[in-house]
Amino acid sequence: MVLIDGKKVSAEIRGCLAKEAGELKEKTGRVPGLATVLVGDDPASAVYVRNKNKICRELGFKSFEQKLSLDTSEAKLLQLIKELNSNNDIHGILVQLPLPSQIDSEKILQAIDPNKDVDGFHPVNVGKLVVGNALLTPCTPTGIIKLLDYYEIDISGKHAVVLGRSNIVGKPVSMLLLQRNATITICHSRTTNLEEITRSADILVAAIGRANFVTENMVSNGAIVIDVGINRVDGKLTGDINFEPVSKKASYITPVPGGVGPMTIALLMENTLKAFKESIGIN
Ligand code: GUN
Repeated sequence: MVLIDGKKVSAEIRGCLAKEAGELKEKTGRVPGLATVLVGDDPASAVYVRNKNKICRELGFKSFEQKLSLDTSEAKLLQLIKELNSNNDIHGILVQLPLPSQIDSEKILQAIDPNKDVDGFHPVNVGKLVVGNALLTPCTPTGIIKLLDYYEIDISGKHAVVLGRSNIVGKPVSMLLLQRNATITICHSRTTNLEEITRSADILVAAIGRANFVTENMVSNGAIVIDVGINRVDGKLTGDINFEPVSKKASYITPVPGGVGPMTIALLMENTLKAFKESIGIN
């Protein structure tokens, strides 16, 4: 069994991005800029956003941190996005999800300039992802593909089973796996015969947010197992995969923490650099 080291791969990617950003600064005098928007004070979201801004600065990018109160109106958030859209020092905009209930998330995501949509959640970018020509693709799914590539795992022709159909992970990772010629099956809460399907997976991606949901009887020998779950159990981060028993059957497996998680931020930075380069006409 090979333990997939997301921390190591993420650090390597960030090293490359910092180097490229430094070279571009020499050449153009400009640096990539990322704006994050946090509405409310959910502790987990606050940690994620703080981390994104910290790594942004470590890479030599500019970070613009926007914090709004929990009772912020939709109109006020739309106004802020309009300002960020027209700020030429900002190349990427990330609105941390979930948003409070008075705000329609879809409306917010549609208001972000698709060229600055470093999450890849704007319908234009979702459409391009399906067609197969997107520049900005969702960070966690793209991070998963990068991990598979790093470990030279061939995706083509494999049966990839994705647990979860979210817009953030399940749907986009399925599209990326399809683009790499996997045969994909998307499972969700209404799927029948789940065990039978997951047992036929060469690559199993779990993104359902239920701690230890995937047990060893659901996984075949030699499967490649990717755990996207971040669940808190007794204050401890726990994935969707029951790691100990499943790791005995898997050929490759990602741990939680230290697997997919660190890749998300690395890919957010990569998307910010891509959006920056596109905006200044390099590529
Ligand atoms: N909340 C959980 N994951 C994500 C993500 O990838 N992007 C944003 N914006 N919010 C999230």
